Amino acid sequence: MARFEYAPAPESRAVVSLRSSYGLYVDGEFVEPLEGKSFKTINPASEEVLAEVALAGAGDVERAVAAARRAQREVWGPMPGAERAKYLFRVARIIQERARELAVLESLDNGKPIRESRDVDVPLAAAHFFYYAGWADKLDYAGFGPSPRPLGIAGQIIPWNFPLLMAAWKLAPALATGNTCILKPAETTPLSALVLAEIFQQAELPPGVINVLTGDGSTGAALVARRDLDKVAFTGSTEVGKAIQRELAGTRTRVSLELGGKAANIVFEDAPFSQAIEGIVNGIFFNQGHVCCAGSRLLVQESVAEAVLEALKRRLGTLRLGDPLDKNTDIGAINSERQLDKIVELAASGEREGAERWSPSCSIPERGYWFPPTIFTGVAPSQRIAREEIFGPVLSVLTFRTPDEAVQKANNTTYGLSAGVWTEKGSRILWMADRLRAGVVWANTFNRFDPTSPFGGYGESGFGREGGRHGLEEYLDA
Ligand code: NAI
Ligand code: MG
Repeated sequence: MARFEYAPAPESRAVVSLRSSYGLYVDGEFVEPLEGKSFKTINPASEEVLAEVALAGAGDVERAVAAARRAQREVWGPMPGAERAKYLFRVARIIQERARELAVLESLDNGKPIRESRDVDVPLAAAHFFYYAGWADKLDYAGFGPSPRPLGIAGQIIPWNFPLLMAAWKLAPALATGNTCILKPAETTPLSALVLAEIFQQAELPPGVINVLTGDGSTGAALVARRDLDKVAFTGSTEVGKAIQRELAGTRTRVSLELGGKAANIVFEDAPFSQAIEGIVNGIFFNQGHVCCAGSRLLVQESVAEAVLEALKRRLGTLRLGDPLDKNTDIGAINSERQLDKIVELAASGEREGAERWSPSCSIPERGYWFPPTIFTGVAPSQRIAREEIFGPVLSVLTFRTPDEAVQKANNTTYGLSAGVWTEKGSRILWMADRLRAGVVWANTFNRFDPTSPFGGYGESGFGREGGRHGLEEYLDA
C-alpha cells in the first residue's frame, strides 16, 4: 500500500518560558524550601533537565497548613459562593488564555503527545473550573441539606499521568465548596502545577487558599502524617493508597482514593466494527496507556476475534511513535525510567508465562524512554499481564463466547474502575452495565471524560467520586 510520509510538524517551545529553578507556592508567594532541598524534573522524551524544583519537607508542610487554615477560616470559608465562583471562572478563563503554553509545558514535562495535551488535558482542566464555578452559589440546592458546610482544609496528592487535569479535578470542587488546599504534584511532573500557581496569582486568588508543595513521596507522606487535615484526596498507586488509609485510620480526616485499574473493553460480534477498533486503540494507547481507567484487557467475542485482531494490528501499524511536540505523534514517551522498567518487566512476564507478544515495526528514538504499542494474545486469566496494572501501551487479549462469560471474566479482577461495552444492541448494553462491577461503564466509546460525570472505583480501585454533583459531596460536611 502506497502511503505518503508525514513531514515533521513540531509545536514551538517558544511559548514556554522555563525558569531554571522553582520554589514552593505558599500563602500566595513563591518561597524557598526551609531545608533547601531540591530535585530535577526532566523531559522523558530526551532526558534533558527542564528545571530544578524545590522539595518540601515537614516544616514547609507546617507553613502551608497554617496558611490554608487561616485562609479558610478568615477569607475563603466565609466568602459568599457567588464571590468564590468569580475566582473559579477567572482561573478557567486564564487557563484558556494560556492554553498553548500549558499544553507545550505538559508535553515537555510528561512526554505525552501535544495533540492530547492540547485537545484533552488543557481544555478539560478549564472545563472543570467552569463547571464547579457554576455550583459555588447553588450548594444549598445540591441535595446535601439546606446549608452544607465546607470540611476545612484538604491535602491533595496527585500522580504524573495527567498532571494539570488531576490538579483541576482536585482543586475545583474543593474551592467551589469553600475549602482551602495544599496540592502535592508528582515528582516527575511538577511544572504545570507551578504555572497553575502563577495563574492563581494572576487571578488574585486570596493568599493561602491554594498552596503548592512540590516534592516526592516523602513530601506526600509528611502531609498525610500531620493527621490534622480535614480531608485527604489521593490519586495514584493502590499501594500508596492503602498506606494513606492505614495512616489515617481512626482520625477524623475524610479520605478519598482513586487508585489503579485493569479495565475490560468488551467487544461483541455485532459491534460497529471500525468504531470498535478505534475504541480499542484509544482505550489502551491513549496517553501511552498511563491511564488508570485504560482498557488494558480486551475481551473479544470468539466469533470475531480473528477479524478484530487483524484489523487492530493493521491500525497499530499506522500509529506514529516519537517526538511528543510533533502534532502528528500518536504515542509519546514513557513518563519515567522507573515506569519503563515496570512495563518491560511485566511484558517479559507475559512471554515467560506463555502469551504471544506482537508489536508493529517502529523505530524507537535513541534517547528518552520509549515502549512500542504491544499486544498479547492467548492470554490466560491467571497470568500477571491479565491481573496486574501495567500502566503502559500493552494490551492483553482474551476471548469469550457468551455475555455471561464476558461479565464473569470482566469482573475477575481486584480492581473496578471502568469498563467498555461494544454492541449494536441497546438492551445488551443495559444488561451488561447492570452486572459489570466498575465505577464507569462506557458504551460504544472509551476514555470519554466530562466534568459533569462522576468518576471513581470499587474494590482496589479506591472509593469516593470526583466530578459531577457527586464530587461536591467529598468536600462538604453533609
Ligand atoms: P505513586 O502512588 O507512588 O505516586 C502518586 C503520588 O503519590 C505522587 O505524587 C507521589 O509523590 C505520592 N506519594 C508516593 N509515596 C507516597 C506516600 N508514602 N505518601 C503520600 N504520597 C506519596 O505512584 P508511582 O510510583 O508514580 O506509580 C506506580 C504505579 O502506580 C504505576 O505503575 C501505576 O500502576 C500506578 N499509578 C496509578 C495512577 C492512577 O491514576 N490511578 C497514577 C500513577 C500511578
Ligand atoms: Mg518530567
